[in-house]
Amino acid sequence: MTTVYDVLVVGGGVIGCSIAYQLSKRGKNVLVLEKNQLASKASKAAAGMLGVHTELNGGSPLYRLAQTSRDMYPVLAQELKEVSGMDIEYVENGMIKLARTEAEAQTLLEVASKTDEVEQVQWMSPPNLSACEPYLSKHVTGGLFIPRDGNVSAPKLTESLGLASKRLGADVKEYTDVYDFMIEGNRVMGVQSSIGPFYASETIVAGGAWSQSLLERVGVTLHAYPVKGECFSVKYSKKLVERTIFTEGCYIVPKPGGRLLIGATEQPNTFDETISAGGLMDLMNRATSILPELSYAHWERAWAGIRPQNQKGLPRIGRSGIWEGLSIATGHYRNGILLAPITGVLVADLIEGKENHQLHSYVGSF
Ligand code: FAD
Ligand code: GLY
Repeated sequence: MTTVYDVLVVGGGVIGCSIAYQLSKRGKNVLVLEKNQLASKASKAAAGMLGVHTELNGGSPLYRLAQTSRDMYPVLAQELKEVSGMDIEYVENGMIKLARTEAEAQTLLEVASKTDEVEQVQWMSPPNLSACEPYLSKHVTGGLFIPRDGNVSAPKLTESLGLASKRLGADVKEYTDVYDFMIEGNRVMGVQSSIGPFYASETIVAGGAWSQSLLERVGVTLHAYPVKGECFSVKYSKKLVERTIFTEGCYIVPKPGGRLLIGATEQPNTFDETISAGGLMDLMNRATSILPELSYAHWERAWAGIRPQNQKGLPRIGRSGIWEGLSIATGHYRNGILLAPITGVLVADLIEGKENHQLHSYVGSF
C-alpha cells in the first residue's frame, strides 16, 4: 500500500532538517528528500556564527526572531546530544565587531544604543581590546563586544538534526532529486522524484538557493537569487582569538582543536561553487590586517557555498497562496544557521495550525 506521509520536506539542509526535527518531535510522520547528502550545500559551508548583532543591526526586522532563535541553542544542543548522540560544538564565546575608522565606531555605537539591556553589549577602547584579544592589530579604533552571540559547527548541527529526526521516526532519503509536484485540483498531493513518486498531506520546499527552480513547476515566484560565499580554514598551535572577530567583508571564528575559520566573500547571481584565487587573496588580506599572526598559521582547506537570498532580503516562510498542501521555508541568506531553530518551530506551528502571536508576523503567503 502507498504510504501517505503527514509531511514531506524537500531539502536536507539546516532548514529542512530543523523542520523535520520539530515535526518528528510532535509525532508527525515525516519524509525528507535530499538531492545530494544531508548538509552538503550552504549548511556545510557556513561558519556557524550565531550573530544576532554582528549580522543584523538593532533596527533589523529580523532582530527579535534572531534573538529568540539564538537563545534556543543551549537547550537544542543538549537535546540533540541526547537524541542523536552528536555534539554540535555550541559555544557562547561572544563576538567583537571591530571598527577600523571613527565613522565605523560611530555606526557601532548607534547599534549598541538600540540593543536590549539583557544583551550586555559593551564598547571596547583599543587598550581594552588589546587586553582581552592581544593578537589583534593595534590599528583599530575599537570594537563592540557582544557577549551572548556564539557559534556552532554548521555541518554537525545539520547532520545531527537529520539524525535526530530519523531516531524520532522520520524517513530520510538522500541522493533523491525532486523534479516536480503531483497536483489534484488546487492541492499538492506530493512530489515526483528520481526514485519515484511520494505522497504527503503537506509538502514543504526547503531547497535553499535551488527552491525557486522547483517552485517554478507550479508557478510560484520567490524573486530569489543565489549569493556565493567562499571561506578558508587554518590551524595554529597558539589560540589567536577567544571570541569571534567580525568586520565588514571578513570574520574570524575560533573552532575546537586550534582551527580558525575565515570568511566570507559575497558574489551574487551564481551557482558556481568553485573557489577563486582572487576571492581567497582578498579574504587573506583582510584577515591578516586585523590578525597579523594569522600569516604563520598552517593552511587547512578552502570551500564555497551558495546562500539563498531574495529581493526583499527576508526569509520566505509560509504557505503557498495558490496551492493547498504546499509551504515554503527558504531565503535565510547569511543567517540560516542562526535562524534554523526558530524556523523549525514556526513551520511546525504553521503545519499544526497553531498561532504564534509574537512571531506570526514573520510568516507570509506566497
Ligand atoms: P542548503 O543548506 O543549501 O540546503 C538546501 C538543500 O536542498 C540542499 O542540500 C540541496 O541539495 C537540497 N535541494 C535543493 N533542491 C532540491 C530538490 N529539487 N530535490 C531534493 N533536494 C533538493 N548562516 C549563519 O547563520 N551563520 C553563519 O556563520 C553563516 N555562514 C555562512 C558562510 C558561508 C560561506 C555561506 C555560503 C553561508 C553562511 N551562512 C551562515 C548562511 C547559511 O549557510 C544558509 O542560510 C543556510 O545554510 C541555508 O540553509 P538551507 O537549508 O535553506 O539551504
Ligand atoms: N553569515 C556569514 C556569511 O554568510 O558569510
